[in-house]
Amino acid sequence: MTGEIGELNPPPRLLMGPGPITCDPRVLRAMSTQLLGQFDPAFTAYMSEVMALYRRLYQTENRWTFLIDGTARAGIEAILVSLISPGDRVLVPIFGRFGHLLCEIARRCRAEVVSIEAEWGAVFAPEQIEAAIRQHRPRVLAICQGDTSTTMAQPLDEIGAICRRHDVILYVDATATLGGMALPVDLWQIDAVSAGLQKCLSGPPGSSPITFNQRVVDIVNARKHVEAGIRPPDYVAGNGAPIQSNYFDLAMLMDYWGGSRLNHHTEAASMLYAARECARIILAEGLEACFARHRTASVALSEGLTAMGLTLFGDQRNKMPNVTGVMIPGGVDGEAVRRLMLDDFGIEIGSSFGPLKGRIWRIGTMGYVCRKENVLHCLGALEATLRQCGVRAPPGVGVDAALSVYRTAETKPA
Ligand SMILES: Cc1ncc(COP(=O)(O)O)c(C=O)c1O
Repeated sequence: MTGEIGELNPPPRLLMGPGPITCDPRVLRAMSTQLLGQFDPAFTAYMSEVMALYRRLYQTENRWTFLIDGTARAGIEAILVSLISPGDRVLVPIFGRFGHLLCEIARRCRAEVVSIEAEWGAVFAPEQIEAAIRQHRPRVLAICQGDTSTTMAQPLDEIGAICRRHDVILYVDATATLGGMALPVDLWQIDAVSAGLQKCLSGPPGSSPITFNQRVVDIVNARKHVEAGIRPPDYVAGNGAPIQSNYFDLAMLMDYWGGSRLNHHTEAASMLYAARECARIILAEGLEACFARHRTASVALSEGLTAMGLTLFGDQRNKMPNVTGVMIPGGVDGEAVRRLMLDDFGIEIGSSFGPLKGRIWRIGTMGYVCRKENVLHCLGALEATLRQCGVRAPPGVGVDAALSVYRTAETKPA
């Protein structure tokens, strides 16, 4: 048998697309830790540690900060399906593909979805969002912090206060930004947030850290229906419409992660170990230092690309610090360049979707991958690859420009 299918031995790659990225080896090591029973006190202690770690990452006091087993969209679905009762109006400001995903998921939760759209490459002014809230009177506002499809980040610092003024619940998809840029959940009055491990958290896809506050708990618990067979003697069902999903039922998940440890799914222990290590690594570095590392890489990469004569995509004032969109020069086959980068240099960069398909590359500098040597390798490789495709820039200008950004950052007092 072993002669037919070889051992796993993937080619060495540097993943510099929009995610997943190359995992931190410490996270891979944590994932190979031996399993425990899910109600072993040692394991439930790890669960509690994970809750505490992600409270710090999300800068929140929210008790309910835990993991949804599944990729980032599992976290989105868990929050939206638990929050949205059929017929609820949900407003989604769309500034890229993942805004459309929020609409799609909300629709499947039988919400009445209304959306406003920004041109891809731009984001919304707070006044535009408030005007849409006034017009549509939604119960929930669902928005991405960073939409990797366009590489744009929506400023959120004023949105929570707007939502409170209009009694709207604010949900934020921070899949692509948690750990890469500030998201002080309590300060910005965000009611619920979800993320994924495979971007700035340096982990693999497969676990979604979420957090939500009491406003969400009240809505969810009003819909609480515990499955027969595990109901505790004092169980009283909520009056609201049952949550459509069992797996993503936040009411039952609170019982599972909370003091009652009521059985639900079997926790994905290896992913919990991974998520724990991801958060531990960032907090050991320090949140601010981690954000600064992403900012510096973003500037260095942007300067390097520009020096090579390439044009960055989108409104640079609202660029995500961890993904950079760059226009594919006219006459160049973007996919051929991506393929050569992979074959000749082992570096993966991304393409994009929808209106940006074939128009931009997306280069990720996230988490473990976000470091000087990777930025320099990528620029050098791209320059050589473009030369192969007939695009000429003075040799070395990209790397030189990025290096000079790093030199300046390194000589600045901390
Ligand atoms: C902003 C955003 N939301 C949601 C997702 C979906 O995440 P997943 O593929 O882990 O389900 C992604 C993935 O790239 C993303 O960038």
